[in-house]
Amino acid sequence: MKSVECITALFACASLVFAGGCGESSGGTASGNSERTKPSFLQLAKERFSVRYYAKTPVEQEKIDAILEAARVAPTAKNLQPFHIYVLKSKEALAKINALSRCAYNAPVVFIVCYDKSNAWVSPFDANDNSGVMDSSIVGTHMMLEAFDQGLGSCWVKFFDPKEVSAAFDIPANLTPSFLLDVGYPQKGAAPTKMHFEKRDIKDLATYK
Ligand SMILES: Cc1cc2nc3c(=O)[nH]c(=O)nc-3n(C[C@H](O)[C@H](O)[C@H](O)COP(=O)(O)O)c2cc1C
Repeated sequence: MKSVECITALFACASLVFAGGCGESSGGTASGNSERTKPSFLQLAKERFSVRYYAKTPVEQEKIDAILEAARVAPTAKNLQPFHIYVLKSKEALAKINALSRCAYNAPVVFIVCYDKSNAWVSPFDANDNSGVMDSSIVGTHMMLEAFDQGLGSCWVKFFDPKEVSAAFDIPANLTPSFLLDVGYPQKGAAPTKMHFEKRDIKDLATYK
């Protein structure tokens, strides 16, 4: 994990372009008969970006519930569901996580998504191939995209010491904090960084055989 990612945020600030609320287009545009056009999945995937500046506005419990519901229905290897999520929203918990990671970005909600290595599927072809990280990452992807669909911003964060986080939040030994997901309403002017647009061409990332 590049520590430079946190710093990127500072540069992003200098070149802020008002981007509107994240997921603003989720509801689409109203047509004459007030029916709304849903954005395609690709639109959603392209419009989402990492938010590193959050408004103080609290996140409604229904939106947190929807994000957790998206986590709940995520696919996992052999459907073992080897994950647990801590929802940090109290003042104390948020102060703790901001002290432990400079990439919590004072978001009003921070999820710690953990996997349970002892309950995750292990490949019969490679005993070191435990699906915990993969499972929790799919869970996180569902959560990140649901947050965006709810008009919220998010940032996936690996810049923290899992041992410190486990100790601070009394996370049991069978669970490993996989990543943090900061969530909240983007501050006015929050915009994608340069990195958001730097993507390889399809011809470079896929090979037909
Ligand atoms: C596994 C993973 C770890 C990441 N860790 C951090 C992090 O610690 N701090 C941070 O500010 N962004 C982090 N990010 C966000 C990436 O920097 C970001 O997704 C990438 O630059 C593309 O930009 P976009 O999300 O705006 O499209 C992480 C993303 C992923 C997928």
